[in-house]
Amino acid sequence: MKKLLQTLTETFGPSGYEDDVRKIVRSEVEALADEVRVDALGNLIVRKRPTRAARETKKVMIAAHMDEIGVIVSHVDENGFIRFSPIGGVFRRYVVGGRVRFLNGTQGIVGFDRLDHINELPTLDKVYIDVGATSPKDSPVKIGDIGAFDRQYSDLGNRLVAKSMDNRVGVLIAIETLRALKSTPYDLYFVFTTQEEVGVRGAATSAYGVDPDIGIALDVTPSGDTPNALRMEMALGKGPCIKIQDVGMIADPRIVQWMIRAAEKNRIPYQREVLLIGGTDAKAIQLTRAGVPAGCISVPVRYVHSPSEMVDYSDVQNAIKLLTAVLRTSIDL
Ligand code: CO
Ligand code: ZN
Repeated sequence: MKKLLQTLTETFGPSGYEDDVRKIVRSEVEALADEVRVDALGNLIVRKRPTRAARETKKVMIAAHMDEIGVIVSHVDENGFIRFSPIGGVFRRYVVGGRVRFLNGTQGIVGFDRLDHINELPTLDKVYIDVGATSPKDSPVKIGDIGAFDRQYSDLGNRLVAKSMDNRVGVLIAIETLRALKSTPYDLYFVFTTQEEVGVRGAATSAYGVDPDIGIALDVTPSGDTPNALRMEMALGKGPCIKIQDVGMIADPRIVQWMIRAAEKNRIPYQREVLLIGGTDAKAIQLTRAGVPAGCISVPVRYVHSPSEMVDYSDVQNAIKLLTAVLRTSIDL
């Protein structure tokens, strides 16, 4: 499983360009599914039918976004230096000194304009990418080319570190749950979504298309367990988080209770999540059509949107156990 996580996180898929990630997911899930298709926005929709279909069978959509943050080339100057626009939440504190890999394989390093004070942090308009070119003519990348931050996966034992742990870890949890789930009373739609980082766009169209009765997003959630962090409960190693609220969604209390019941009955550790920053695909699912009861299972992460996002391996394993248990537990709606 760690091997698959490494493969997923070392693959590049900024928003709108998730093709390589989708290929890997597709090859993993094809044998486990009753139906696999790709919609117009590139969402991979994987259906697993109920073990025994009843008239009242509910459709559950489980969403895990495939995309990651990145950059798009907006200008190449006369000396070949590249200016870019961020794709998603690119924080300037994490880009300086880093490296970028473009989808055509070109690598670049991140530099910045002269600063007035040595400890100043440059704003993104003062940051450029140097790919070794000397002019727009010999530049291997052109306007509109896409890149992402380049960093290798590392296994620290219990703690795993990689770029795009947000949200390849969610993608992994969806794949492994599909593998583990032997029976379910639900009609399941595992949707590997696109363009979450630019505003939950893939989840919006796929939720409309699937038209589920229940929605569950799988994602990471920033933890509050580092020095002087925001005061939040979520900590690495204490179990997957059952989301109660974030900036984009108030989880349906019936969905929260359903998840808690499954966790307690199966003695799976979990944390109650109130997140003070950010949101997930669950927001788009909840607000589709006439509205859908929705919730989210998340994995606590440190250093989110940096090239070294850290999760705890036991949280990942327990998230798979939790989602598997939830999808076998009945719910009254
Ligand atoms: Co994110
Ligand atoms: Zn995410």
